[in-house]
Amino acid sequence: MMSQITDILTPNIGDFDAVEIIEIAVQPGDTVKPEDTLLTLESDKATMDIPAPTAGTVVELMVKVGDSVSAGSPILKLEQAEVTAATPTATAGADEAAAAADAAVPDTVTAPQQATPDEPGATRPESLVEKPTAAVPETPPASLPPGQKPAPNAPAGAQTAGSSASAKAHASPGVRKFARELGVDLGLVKGSGKKGRILKEDVTAFTKSVMTSEGVFDRPALQDIPPVDFSKFGPVQTQPLARLKRLGGQNLHRNWVNVPHVTQFDETDITELEAFRLSKKTEADQRGVKLTLLSFLVKAVVVALKKFPEFNASLSPDGKDLILKHYFHIGVAVNTDQGLLVPVLQDANLKGVFELAAELSALAQQARDKKLRPADMEGGCFTISSLGHIGGAGFTPIINCPEVAILGVSRATLKPVYQAGKLEPRLILPYSLSYDHRVIDGVAAAQFTRALGEILTDIRDILL
Ligand code: COA
Repeated sequence: MMSQITDILTPNIGDFDAVEIIEIAVQPGDTVKPEDTLLTLESDKATMDIPAPTAGTVVELMVKVGDSVSAGSPILKLEQAEVTAATPTATAGADEAAAAADAAVPDTVTAPQQATPDEPGATRPESLVEKPTAAVPETPPASLPPGQKPAPNAPAGAQTAGSSASAKAHASPGVRKFARELGVDLGLVKGSGKKGRILKEDVTAFTKSVMTSEGVFDRPALQDIPPVDFSKFGPVQTQPLARLKRLGGQNLHRNWVNVPHVTQFDETDITELEAFRLSKKTEADQRGVKLTLLSFLVKAVVVALKKFPEFNASLSPDGKDLILKHYFHIGVAVNTDQGLLVPVLQDANLKGVFELAAELSALAQQARDKKLRPADMEGGCFTISSLGHIGGAGFTPIINCPEVAILGVSRATLKPVYQAGKLEPRLILPYSLSYDHRVIDGVAAAQFTRALGEILTDIRDILL
Protein backbone atom coordinates (compact mmCIF):
# COMPACT_ATOMS: atom_id res chain seq x y z
CA MET A 1 0.00 0.00 0.00
CA MET A 2 1.24 3.44 -0.90
CA SER A 3 -0.28 6.87 -1.14
CA GLN A 4 -0.11 9.21 -4.06
CA ILE A 5 -1.46 12.67 -4.72
CA THR A 6 -3.25 12.94 -8.02
CA ASP A 7 -5.10 15.67 -9.81
CA ILE A 8 -8.74 14.86 -10.28
CA LEU A 9 -9.88 16.16 -13.64
CA THR A 10 -13.28 17.03 -14.96
CA PRO A 11 -14.47 13.93 -16.75
CA ASN A 12 -15.98 13.98 -20.18
CA ILE A 13 -19.28 15.76 -19.69
CA GLY A 14 -20.87 15.15 -23.02
CA ASP A 15 -21.57 18.05 -25.31
CA PHE A 16 -20.99 20.58 -22.61
CA ASP A 17 -18.12 22.99 -22.56
CA ALA A 18 -17.15 25.60 -19.96
CA VAL A 19 -19.85 24.57 -17.53
CA GLU A 20 -20.26 26.56 -14.35
CA ILE A 21 -19.59 25.06 -10.93
CA ILE A 22 -22.60 25.80 -8.75
CA GLU A 23 -21.54 23.88 -5.72
CA ILE A 24 -18.49 22.22 -4.23
CA ALA A 25 -19.39 19.41 -1.90
CA VAL A 26 -15.97 18.73 -0.41
CA GLN A 27 -13.20 20.68 1.18
CA PRO A 28 -9.56 19.96 1.95
CA GLY A 29 -9.30 17.24 4.56
CA ASP A 30 -12.52 15.47 3.53
CA THR A 31 -12.29 11.82 2.72
CA VAL A 32 -14.33 10.55 -0.17
CA LYS A 33 -15.43 7.21 -1.45
CA PRO A 34 -15.75 6.38 -5.11
CA GLU A 35 -18.90 8.00 -6.57
CA ASP A 36 -19.17 10.55 -3.75
CA THR A 37 -20.08 13.90 -5.22
CA LEU A 38 -17.17 16.28 -5.50
CA LEU A 39 -18.93 19.15 -7.15
CA THR A 40 -21.99 20.08 -9.14
CA LEU A 41 -22.00 21.71 -12.53
CA GLU A 42 -24.90 23.44 -14.12
CA SER A 43 -25.31 24.28 -17.76
CA ASP A 44 -28.39 25.88 -19.25
CA LYS A 45 -29.65 22.38 -19.94
CA ALA A 46 -28.73 20.22 -17.01
CA THR A 47 -27.22 19.92 -13.60
CA MET A 48 -24.44 17.37 -13.28
CA ASP A 49 -22.67 15.99 -10.29
CA ILE A 50 -19.04 15.09 -10.71
CA PRO A 51 -18.34 11.98 -8.65
CA ALA A 52 -15.07 10.95 -7.08
CA PRO A 53 -13.49 8.40 -9.38
CA THR A 54 -11.72 6.83 -6.47
CA ALA A 55 -11.43 6.94 -2.70
CA GLY A 56 -9.05 9.34 -1.04
CA THR A 57 -8.54 12.50 0.96
CA VAL A 58 -9.01 15.92 -0.59
CA VAL A 59 -5.71 17.78 -0.36
CA GLU A 60 -6.47 20.95 -2.27
CA LEU A 61 -9.33 22.47 -4.25
CA MET A 62 -8.25 23.83 -7.60
CA VAL A 63 -11.58 25.47 -8.44
CA LYS A 64 -14.22 27.56 -6.71
CA VAL A 65 -17.93 28.04 -7.08
CA GLY A 66 -18.60 30.18 -10.16
CA ASP A 67 -15.62 28.84 -12.13
CA SER A 68 -16.32 27.16 -15.43
CA VAL A 69 -14.80 23.81 -16.30
CA SER A 70 -14.59 21.63 -19.38
CA ALA A 71 -13.56 18.02 -19.77
CA GLY A 72 -10.01 17.69 -18.49
CA SER A 73 -9.99 20.79 -16.29
CA PRO A 74 -8.31 20.00 -12.96
CA ILE A 75 -10.75 20.03 -10.05
CA LEU A 76 -8.81 19.05 -6.97
CA LYS A 77 -5.84 17.16 -5.65
CA LEU A 78 -6.68 13.87 -4.02
CA GLU A 79 -4.43 11.76 -1.87
CA GLN A 80 -5.23 8.19 -2.63
CA ALA A 81 -4.66 5.76 0.20
CA GLU A 82 -4.26 2.83 -2.08
CA VAL A 83 -3.15 3.04 -5.62
CA THR A 84 -4.00 0.07 -7.70
CA ALA A 85 -3.98 -0.69 -11.37
CA ALA A 86 -7.73 -0.23 -11.37
CA THR A 87 -7.55 3.47 -10.50
CA PRO A 88 -10.01 5.28 -12.78
CA THR A 89 -8.39 7.14 -15.56
CA ALA A 90 -10.24 10.30 -14.86
CA THR A 91 -7.55 10.94 -12.33
CA ALA A 92 -4.06 11.74 -13.32
CA GLY A 93 -0.75 12.28 -11.70
CA ALA A 94 0.14 15.93 -11.63
CA ASP A 95 2.49 15.51 -14.53
CA GLU A 96 -0.11 13.75 -16.55
CA ALA A 97 -2.88 16.26 -16.15
CA ALA A 98 -2.84 17.56 -19.69
CA ALA A 99 -2.70 14.18 -21.24
CA ALA A 100 -5.52 12.98 -19.06
CA ALA A 101 -7.86 15.56 -20.51
CA ASP A 102 -8.40 13.30 -23.43
CA ALA A 103 -8.16 10.16 -21.45
CA ALA A 104 -10.90 7.75 -20.79
CA VAL A 105 -13.05 8.43 -17.75
CA PRO A 106 -15.10 6.05 -15.67
CA ASP A 107 -17.92 4.46 -17.57
CA THR A 108 -20.51 6.18 -15.52
CA VAL A 109 -19.23 9.50 -16.72
CA THR A 110 -18.49 8.81 -20.32
CA ALA A 111 -21.76 7.14 -21.21
CA PRO A 112 -23.91 10.19 -21.84
CA GLN A 113 -21.71 11.86 -24.39
CA GLN A 114 -24.10 11.47 -27.24
CA ALA A 115 -27.21 13.15 -25.96
CA THR A 116 -28.19 15.91 -23.59
CA PRO A 117 -30.77 15.06 -20.97
CA ASP A 118 -33.33 17.24 -22.68
CA GLU A 119 -33.27 15.25 -25.85
CA PRO A 120 -35.90 12.57 -26.27
CA GLY A 121 -34.57 9.25 -25.33
CA ALA A 122 -31.48 10.75 -23.81
CA THR A 123 -29.99 8.81 -21.00
CA ARG A 124 -27.55 9.96 -18.42
CA PRO A 125 -25.77 7.85 -15.92
CA GLU A 126 -27.00 7.90 -12.35
CA SER A 127 -23.79 9.40 -11.14
CA LEU A 128 -24.23 12.43 -13.34
CA VAL A 129 -27.87 13.28 -13.09
CA GLU A 130 -29.61 11.42 -10.32
CA LYS A 131 -27.31 11.78 -7.43
CA PRO A 132 -26.56 14.49 -4.97
CA THR A 133 -26.73 18.08 -5.59
CA ALA A 134 -27.73 21.07 -3.63
CA ALA A 135 -30.16 23.85 -4.04
CA VAL A 136 -28.22 27.06 -4.25
CA PRO A 137 -30.60 29.88 -3.54
CA GLU A 138 -29.69 32.91 -5.55
CA THR A 139 -32.58 34.81 -4.06
CA PRO A 140 -34.47 34.53 -0.79
CA PRO A 141 -37.59 32.40 -0.94
CA ALA A 142 -40.10 33.98 -3.26
CA SER A 143 -42.64 34.46 -0.52
CA LEU A 144 -40.43 36.66 1.64
CA PRO A 145 -41.27 40.33 1.29
CA PRO A 146 -38.97 42.18 -1.08
CA GLY A 147 -35.69 43.01 0.54
CA GLN A 148 -36.31 40.74 3.50
CA LYS A 149 -33.55 38.24 3.99
CA PRO A 150 -34.18 34.94 5.66
CA ALA A 151 -33.89 35.34 9.40
CA PRO A 152 -30.86 33.88 11.12
CA ASN A 153 -33.14 31.36 12.76
CA ALA A 154 -35.05 30.73 9.59
CA PRO A 155 -35.78 27.15 8.81
CA ALA A 156 -34.58 24.96 6.10
CA GLY A 157 -36.34 26.53 3.21
CA ALA A 158 -34.87 29.88 3.92
CA GLN A 159 -31.35 28.68 4.52
CA THR A 160 -28.50 29.00 2.17
CA ALA A 161 -27.94 25.68 0.62
CA GLY A 162 -24.67 24.03 -0.03
CA SER A 163 -24.32 21.96 3.12
CA SER A 164 -22.84 18.55 2.81
CA ALA A 165 -26.26 17.17 3.72
CA SER A 166 -27.68 18.80 0.64
CA ALA A 167 -24.94 17.26 -1.42
CA LYS A 168 -26.16 13.83 -0.42
CA ALA A 169 -29.75 14.45 -1.41
CA HIS A 170 -31.12 12.40 -4.28
CA ALA A 171 -32.98 14.48 -6.81
CA SER A 172 -33.24 14.93 -10.53
CA PRO A 173 -31.92 18.08 -12.23
CA GLY A 174 -35.48 19.30 -12.74
CA VAL A 175 -36.23 18.98 -9.05
CA ARG A 176 -32.96 20.64 -8.15
CA LYS A 177 -33.74 23.55 -10.44
CA PHE A 178 -37.19 23.85 -8.89
CA ALA A 179 -35.70 23.78 -5.40
CA ARG A 180 -33.12 26.36 -6.35
CA GLU A 181 -35.81 28.70 -7.67
CA LEU A 182 -37.61 28.47 -4.33
CA GLY A 183 -34.43 28.78 -2.31
CA VAL A 184 -34.96 25.35 -0.78
CA ASP A 185 -32.00 23.39 0.56
CA LEU A 186 -32.56 19.88 -0.71
CA GLY A 187 -30.44 18.51 2.09
CA LEU A 188 -33.32 19.25 4.42
CA VAL A 189 -36.10 17.78 2.30
CA LYS A 190 -37.31 14.25 2.95
CA GLY A 191 -37.70 12.35 -0.29
CA SER A 192 -40.77 10.20 -0.84
CA GLY A 193 -39.55 8.62 -4.06
CA LYS A 194 -37.83 5.31 -4.59
CA LYS A 195 -34.77 4.97 -2.34
CA GLY A 196 -35.63 8.29 -0.73
CA ARG A 197 -35.37 10.25 -3.93
CA ILE A 198 -36.73 13.77 -3.65
CA LEU A 199 -39.65 14.49 -5.92
CA LYS A 200 -41.04 17.84 -6.95
CA GLU A 201 -44.02 17.27 -4.66
CA ASP A 202 -41.62 16.85 -1.73
CA VAL A 203 -40.11 20.25 -2.41
CA THR A 204 -43.58 21.79 -2.68
CA ALA A 205 -44.74 20.14 0.54
CA PHE A 206 -41.57 21.23 2.32
CA THR A 207 -41.98 24.83 1.17
CA LYS A 208 -45.60 24.83 2.31
CA SER A 209 -44.71 23.47 5.72
CA VAL A 210 -41.99 26.08 6.12
CA MET A 211 -44.25 28.94 5.18
CA THR A 212 -47.07 27.87 7.47
CA SER A 213 -45.12 26.78 10.52
CA GLU A 214 -44.93 29.00 13.58
CA GLY A 215 -41.76 30.74 14.64
CA VAL A 216 -40.31 30.21 11.24
CA PHE A 217 -39.30 33.74 10.55
CA ASP A 218 -38.63 36.33 13.17
CA ARG A 219 -41.51 38.23 11.61
CA PRO A 220 -44.39 36.97 9.56
CA ALA A 221 -44.12 36.97 5.81
CA LEU A 222 -46.66 39.48 4.60
CA GLN A 223 -48.71 38.94 1.54
CA ASP A 224 -49.38 41.89 -0.68
CA ILE A 225 -52.95 43.07 -0.94
CA PRO A 226 -54.01 42.25 -4.48
CA PRO A 227 -54.32 45.39 -6.60
CA VAL A 228 -57.78 46.36 -7.79
CA ASP A 229 -58.61 48.45 -10.83
CA PHE A 230 -61.27 50.63 -9.20
CA SER A 231 -61.99 52.44 -12.44
CA LYS A 232 -63.79 49.30 -13.54
CA PHE A 233 -66.46 50.11 -10.98
CA GLY A 234 -66.81 53.86 -11.37
CA PRO A 235 -64.95 57.15 -11.84
CA VAL A 236 -61.85 57.58 -9.66
CA GLN A 237 -59.15 60.16 -9.03
CA THR A 238 -55.63 59.41 -7.82
CA GLN A 239 -54.17 61.77 -5.25
CA PRO A 240 -50.63 61.33 -3.89
CA LEU A 241 -50.30 60.95 -0.11
CA ALA A 242 -48.43 63.73 1.68
CA ARG A 243 -44.82 62.74 2.37
CA LEU A 244 -45.33 62.93 6.12
CA LYS A 245 -48.35 60.69 5.88
CA ARG A 246 -46.45 58.17 3.79
CA LEU A 247 -43.49 58.06 6.17
CA GLY A 248 -45.72 58.10 9.23
CA GLY A 249 -47.78 55.33 7.69
CA GLN A 250 -44.69 53.18 7.27
CA ASN A 251 -43.83 53.66 10.95
CA LEU A 252 -47.37 52.87 12.04
CA HIS A 253 -47.37 49.76 9.89
CA ARG A 254 -43.97 48.68 11.23
CA ASN A 255 -45.12 49.17 14.82
CA TRP A 256 -48.40 47.38 14.20
CA VAL A 257 -46.85 44.28 12.68
CA ASN A 258 -43.91 44.09 15.08
CA VAL A 259 -45.69 44.49 18.38
CA PRO A 260 -48.49 42.34 19.78
CA HIS A 261 -50.96 45.06 20.71
CA VAL A 262 -53.75 44.72 23.24
CA THR A 263 -56.04 47.60 24.12
CA GLN A 264 -57.60 48.03 27.54
CA PHE A 265 -60.64 50.35 27.77
CA ASP A 266 -61.73 52.25 30.83
CA GLU A 267 -63.54 55.39 31.86
CA THR A 268 -63.41 57.68 34.84
CA ASP A 269 -65.31 60.46 36.52
CA ILE A 270 -63.54 63.78 35.88
CA THR A 271 -66.27 66.05 37.24
CA GLU A 272 -64.00 67.43 39.99
CA LEU A 273 -61.07 67.75 37.65
CA GLU A 274 -63.16 69.70 35.15
CA ALA A 275 -64.40 71.98 37.94
CA PHE A 276 -60.83 72.57 38.98
CA ARG A 277 -59.75 73.24 35.38
CA LEU A 278 -62.54 75.77 34.90
CA SER A 279 -61.64 77.44 38.20
CA LYS A 280 -58.15 78.00 36.81
CA LYS A 281 -59.25 79.21 33.40
CA THR A 282 -59.21 82.93 34.26
CA GLU A 283 -55.72 82.61 35.64
CA ALA A 284 -54.70 80.64 32.56
CA ASP A 285 -56.16 83.30 30.28
CA GLN A 286 -54.23 85.96 32.18
CA ARG A 287 -51.06 83.93 31.56
CA GLY A 288 -52.02 83.63 27.90
CA VAL A 289 -52.31 79.85 28.22
CA LYS A 290 -55.08 77.58 26.94
CA LEU A 291 -55.62 75.18 29.83
CA THR A 292 -57.25 72.04 28.42
CA LEU A 293 -57.70 68.61 29.92
CA LEU A 294 -54.58 67.40 28.16
CA SER A 295 -52.11 69.07 30.54
CA PHE A 296 -53.82 67.35 33.46
CA LEU A 297 -53.69 64.06 31.58
CA VAL A 298 -49.95 64.47 31.11
CA LYS A 299 -49.49 65.04 34.85
CA ALA A 300 -51.75 62.11 35.72
CA VAL A 301 -49.87 59.83 33.32
CA VAL A 302 -46.57 60.76 35.00
CA VAL A 303 -47.99 59.77 38.38
CA ALA A 304 -49.21 56.45 36.94
CA LEU A 305 -45.85 55.79 35.26
CA LYS A 306 -44.10 56.29 38.58
CA LYS A 307 -46.40 53.68 40.13
CA PHE A 308 -45.92 51.25 37.21
CA PRO A 309 -42.31 51.59 36.02
CA GLU A 310 -42.60 48.90 33.34
CA PHE A 311 -44.84 51.28 31.40
CA ASN A 312 -42.00 53.81 31.35
CA ALA A 313 -39.66 51.39 29.61
CA SER A 314 -38.50 49.95 26.30
CA LEU A 315 -37.44 46.47 25.27
CA SER A 316 -33.79 46.08 24.38
CA PRO A 317 -33.30 45.44 20.64
CA ASP A 318 -32.71 41.72 21.22
CA GLY A 319 -35.89 41.54 23.29
CA LYS A 320 -34.07 40.11 26.30
CA ASP A 321 -34.06 43.09 28.64
CA LEU A 322 -36.39 45.83 29.73
CA ILE A 323 -34.80 49.25 29.87
CA LEU A 324 -36.49 51.23 32.64
CA LYS A 325 -36.37 55.00 32.26
CA HIS A 326 -35.91 57.37 35.15
CA TYR A 327 -37.09 60.37 33.18
CA PHE A 328 -40.61 61.27 32.11
CA HIS A 329 -40.79 62.65 28.57
CA ILE A 330 -44.37 62.47 27.33
CA GLY A 331 -45.25 62.54 23.63
CA VAL A 332 -48.51 64.06 22.45
CA ALA A 333 -49.99 63.18 19.06
CA VAL A 334 -50.80 66.30 17.06
CA ASN A 335 -52.90 66.19 13.96
CA THR A 336 -51.68 68.35 11.07
CA ASP A 337 -52.93 68.66 7.51
CA GLN A 338 -49.80 66.75 6.42
CA GLY A 339 -50.26 63.89 8.86
CA LEU A 340 -49.63 62.99 12.46
CA LEU A 341 -46.66 64.32 14.46
CA VAL A 342 -45.66 63.50 18.02
CA PRO A 343 -43.78 66.32 19.78
CA VAL A 344 -42.43 65.44 23.19
CA LEU A 345 -42.91 67.32 26.45
CA GLN A 346 -39.53 66.88 28.12
CA ASP A 347 -39.37 66.21 31.87
CA ALA A 348 -43.12 66.49 32.31
CA ASN A 349 -42.69 65.41 35.93
CA LEU A 350 -40.84 68.66 36.68
CA LYS A 351 -43.42 70.97 35.14
CA GLY A 352 -46.75 72.34 36.35
CA VAL A 353 -49.97 72.24 34.35
CA PHE A 354 -49.67 75.88 33.20
CA GLU A 355 -46.17 75.32 31.94
CA LEU A 356 -47.21 72.09 30.25
CA ALA A 357 -50.24 73.77 28.65
CA ALA A 358 -48.07 76.59 27.28
CA GLU A 359 -45.46 74.18 25.96
CA LEU A 360 -48.10 71.96 24.44
CA SER A 361 -49.76 74.85 22.59
CA ALA A 362 -46.39 75.99 21.27
CA LEU A 363 -45.39 72.51 20.10
CA ALA A 364 -48.80 71.87 18.51
CA GLN A 365 -48.54 75.16 16.64
CA GLN A 366 -45.00 74.40 15.50
CA ALA A 367 -46.20 71.00 14.30
CA ARG A 368 -48.97 72.58 12.25
CA ASP A 369 -46.54 75.18 10.87
CA LYS A 370 -44.05 72.38 10.01
CA LYS A 371 -41.49 74.00 12.29
CA LEU A 372 -40.81 71.13 14.69
CA ARG A 373 -37.16 70.17 14.95
CA PRO A 374 -36.21 66.47 15.12
CA ALA A 375 -35.10 67.07 18.73
CA ASP A 376 -38.66 68.17 19.59
CA MET A 377 -39.87 64.68 18.73
CA GLU A 378 -37.15 62.61 20.37
CA GLY A 379 -36.84 60.79 23.65
CA GLY A 380 -40.50 60.09 24.37
CA CYS A 381 -41.32 57.49 27.04
CA PHE A 382 -45.09 57.28 26.62
CA THR A 383 -47.54 58.90 24.20
CA ILE A 384 -50.99 60.39 24.65
CA SER A 385 -53.27 60.60 21.66
CA SER A 386 -56.34 62.71 22.34
CA LEU A 387 -59.38 62.81 20.11
CA GLY A 388 -61.41 64.27 22.97
CA HIS A 389 -61.99 67.57 21.22
CA ILE A 390 -63.81 65.67 18.47
CA GLY A 391 -65.75 62.85 20.13
CA GLY A 392 -65.93 59.07 20.06
CA ALA A 393 -66.36 56.47 22.76
CA GLY A 394 -62.98 54.81 22.40
CA PHE A 395 -60.28 53.78 19.94
CA THR A 396 -57.22 51.57 19.73
CA PRO A 397 -54.12 53.71 19.25
CA ILE A 398 -50.99 52.17 17.77
CA ILE A 399 -47.99 52.11 20.10
CA ASN A 400 -45.29 54.64 19.29
CA CYS A 401 -42.36 52.17 19.35
CA PRO A 402 -40.01 51.62 21.07
CA GLU A 403 -42.37 52.84 23.79
CA VAL A 404 -44.49 50.07 25.27
CA ALA A 405 -47.84 51.77 25.77
CA ILE A 406 -49.98 54.61 24.50
CA LEU A 407 -53.04 56.30 25.95
CA GLY A 408 -56.01 57.10 23.70
CA VAL A 409 -58.37 59.73 25.07
CA SER A 410 -61.93 60.15 23.84
CA ARG A 411 -64.53 62.79 24.57
CA ALA A 412 -65.81 63.34 28.09
CA THR A 413 -69.58 63.48 28.30
CA LEU A 414 -72.11 64.02 31.06
CA LYS A 415 -73.64 60.73 32.15
CA PRO A 416 -76.08 59.82 34.91
CA VAL A 417 -74.17 57.98 37.63
CA TYR A 418 -75.83 56.27 40.58
CA GLN A 419 -74.21 57.81 43.62
CA ALA A 420 -75.22 58.02 47.29
CA GLY A 421 -78.64 56.62 46.52
CA LYS A 422 -79.46 58.84 43.55
CA LEU A 423 -78.57 59.47 39.93
CA GLU A 424 -76.11 62.33 39.51
CA PRO A 425 -74.90 63.93 36.28
CA ARG A 426 -71.17 63.29 36.16
CA LEU A 427 -68.56 64.07 33.54
CA ILE A 428 -67.18 60.72 32.39
CA LEU A 429 -63.99 60.46 30.39
CA PRO A 430 -63.51 57.33 28.23
CA TYR A 431 -59.95 56.31 27.50
CA SER A 432 -57.97 53.33 26.28
CA LEU A 433 -54.49 51.98 26.67
CA SER A 434 -52.77 50.01 23.92
CA TYR A 435 -49.82 48.10 25.30
CA ASP A 436 -47.06 45.80 24.14
CA HIS A 437 -48.14 42.43 25.44
CA ARG A 438 -44.55 41.16 25.35
CA VAL A 439 -43.79 43.56 28.17
CA ILE A 440 -47.08 44.24 29.90
CA ASP A 441 -49.57 41.69 31.18
CA GLY A 442 -53.31 42.26 30.98
CA VAL A 443 -53.57 42.55 34.77
CA ALA A 444 -50.89 45.25 34.88
CA ALA A 445 -52.62 47.13 32.06
CA ALA A 446 -55.96 47.02 33.88
CA GLN A 447 -54.25 48.16 37.07
CA PHE A 448 -52.57 50.99 35.21
CA THR A 449 -55.78 52.25 33.60
CA ARG A 450 -57.60 51.97 36.91
CA ALA A 451 -54.87 53.86 38.74
CA LEU A 452 -54.94 56.52 36.05
CA GLY A 453 -58.72 56.80 36.44
CA GLU A 454 -58.39 57.24 40.20
CA ILE A 455 -55.73 59.91 39.77
CA LEU A 456 -57.94 61.83 37.34
CA THR A 457 -60.97 61.51 39.60
CA ASP A 458 -59.07 62.76 42.62
CA ILE A 459 -56.58 65.23 41.23
CA ARG A 460 -54.99 65.80 44.61
CA ASP A 461 -52.74 62.88 43.64
CA ILE A 462 -51.38 64.96 40.80
CA LEU A 463 -50.39 67.70 43.18
CA LEU A 464 -48.55 65.40 45.54
N1 COA B 1 -63.33 65.62 26.33
C1 COA B 1 -64.07 66.71 26.15
N2 COA B 1 -63.58 67.87 25.65
C2 COA B 1 -62.27 67.89 25.32
C3 COA B 1 -61.46 66.78 25.48
C4 COA B 1 -62.02 65.61 26.02
N3 COA B 1 -61.33 64.52 26.22
N4 COA B 1 -60.24 67.10 25.06
C5 COA B 1 -60.28 68.37 24.63
N5 COA B 1 -61.52 68.84 24.78
C6 COA B 1 -61.95 70.15 24.47
C7 COA B 1 -61.01 71.18 24.99
O1 COA B 1 -61.23 71.43 26.38
C8 COA B 1 -61.31 72.33 24.09
O2 COA B 1 -62.52 72.94 24.53
P1 COA B 1 -62.66 74.54 24.60
O3 COA B 1 -62.24 75.07 23.25
O4 COA B 1 -64.12 74.74 24.90
O5 COA B 1 -61.78 74.98 25.70
C9 COA B 1 -61.60 71.67 22.77
O6 COA B 1 -61.93 70.31 23.06
C10 COA B 1 -60.44 71.70 21.80
O7 COA B 1 -59.27 71.27 22.44
P2 COA B 1 -57.84 71.43 21.70
O8 COA B 1 -57.63 72.85 21.36
O9 COA B 1 -57.75 70.48 20.60
O10 COA B 1 -56.81 71.11 22.80
P3 COA B 1 -56.29 69.76 23.42
O11 COA B 1 -55.31 70.16 24.42
O12 COA B 1 -57.36 68.88 23.88
O13 COA B 1 -55.57 69.01 22.21
C11 COA B 1 -53.99 68.60 20.48
C12 COA B 1 -54.44 69.54 21.60
C13 COA B 1 -52.86 69.24 19.72
C14 COA B 1 -53.51 67.29 21.06
C15 COA B 1 -55.18 68.29 19.56
O14 COA B 1 -55.64 69.48 18.97
C16 COA B 1 -54.89 67.32 18.45
O15 COA B 1 -54.25 67.60 17.44
N6 COA B 1 -55.37 66.08 18.61
C17 COA B 1 -55.28 65.09 17.52
C18 COA B 1 -54.50 63.91 17.98
C19 COA B 1 -54.68 62.80 16.98
O16 COA B 1 -54.83 63.01 15.79
N7 COA B 1 -54.72 61.58 17.47
C20 COA B 1 -55.04 60.47 16.65
C21 COA B 1 -53.94 59.52 16.69
S1 COA B 1 -54.49 57.90 16.32
